[in-house]
Amino acid sequence: MSERKIGIIMNGVSGRMGTNQHLIRSILAIRQQGGVKLENGVTIMPDPILVGRSEAKLKALAAAHGIARWSTNLDECLADANNEIYFDSQTTVLRAESMRKAIAAGKHLYCEKPTASTLEEALELARLANEAGLKNGVVQDKLFLPGVLKLKRLVDSGFFGRILSVRIEFGYWVFEGDWQAGQRPSWNYRQEDGGGIIVDMFAHWRYVLDNLFGNVKSVSCLGTTHIPKRWDEKGQPYTCTADDAAYGTFELEGGIIAQVNSSWAVRVDREDLLNIQVDGTEGSAAAGLRECKVQHRVNTPKPVWNPDVANPFRFREQWETVPDNQIFDNGFKVQWELFLKHVVGDAPFRWDLMEGAKGTQLAELGLLSWKERRWIDVPDLEGCR
Ligand SMILES: NC(=O)c1ccc[n+]([C@@H]2O[C@H](COP(=O)([O-])OP(=O)(O)OC[C@H]3O[C@@H](n4cnc5c(N)ncnc54)[C@H](O)[C@@H]3O)[C@@H](O)[C@H]2O)c1
Repeated sequence: MSERKIGIIMNGVSGRMGTNQHLIRSILAIRQQGGVKLENGVTIMPDPILVGRSEAKLKALAAAHGIARWSTNLDECLADANNEIYFDSQTTVLRAESMRKAIAAGKHLYCEKPTASTLEEALELARLANEAGLKNGVVQDKLFLPGVLKLKRLVDSGFFGRILSVRIEFGYWVFEGDWQAGQRPSWNYRQEDGGGIIVDMFAHWRYVLDNLFGNVKSVSCLGTTHIPKRWDEKGQPYTCTADDAAYGTFELEGGIIAQVNSSWAVRVDREDLLNIQVDGTEGSAAAGLRECKVQHRVNTPKPVWNPDVANPFRFREQWETVPDNQIFDNGFKVQWELFLKHVVGDAPFRWDLMEGAKGTQLAELGLLSWKERRWIDVPDLEGCR
């Protein structure tokens, strides 16, 4: 049994996603479990170097988690041959420039979504990485949520019959920041800083819809900025220039219709922050982040519209729970493990920069649909590979 240490530059690691999901829940958790084992007996051991702008933040983060390496100098980290992977969880607008540098330095690449804020840039990154023969991957974490994995299980089993429609409700109330601090970074609400719920969430909806139900063929989207003024991390008021809600409809391959509401200005009267309902000829399912319940056609009640009498149905009790039947690990960690196996052991990895570009493509077309108030078809990007 030999250990294969692999240096990973983690840029933007002091942010919300960088610290919680990528450092603590993924890289440190992988180190704590003793690395990632390959079939040939080799164990991959990630060796992170924390990178960012603030020396104080990085020092504190490294000390809190017993990490030896941190730096505010990306170029120096890229020049070190021991660092084989470049990971980026900076704000979206900053990503492309650093990724280009990492490609020039010959590093394998893994990054948060969206990979870039424009399709042109996202495609450029994918092309540059592939031409340089570098392995590359993009976070597509929702595919690894227990609730979504259960939905996938149902799709694969043929449970739904012919799938008719998908309804996604995503969102929660993000505080404005005046009398209670906002629970998301303020750049999310400024277009000039790469914010906006369409750019953010359509990147997720693309891979969720494509991978579970069928490729997205067409989009209609209405965005809006419901809350025009918020207060930032320092308590300063600012004008919201980015969309904070998007009401999208998508046509998928096979005639499936998906309706997706995304909002940071909605209060939750549902079972989870994300709910996905799928209706098919043979049965329906409703999934949250972890749970999933089903109703087969033979168990479907027959309500009759009559507002003159009290509702005799307890609709939510008429569903059956899909059992776990497996242990679900953190989705970010699972994807990191697969990427490490891809880099070191050559295992396949489907979620590359080109897949990531598809997310940015859908966001861009969603924004265009909103602007021009019309349906827009989604061109195939496969030819760009
Ligand atoms: N996969 C997911 O579910 C998911 C969820 C949220 C965010 N994200 C993505 O992760 C990325 C980071 O999002 P986050 O919520 O962690 O943001 P964040 O604001 O918490 O972190 C951003 C990071 O970028 C760094 N940074 C460098 N220059 C900066 C600048 N000029 N202004 C602001 N920050 C700067 C910050 O120091 C920090 O480390 C984004 O691309 C976002 O789209 C993904």
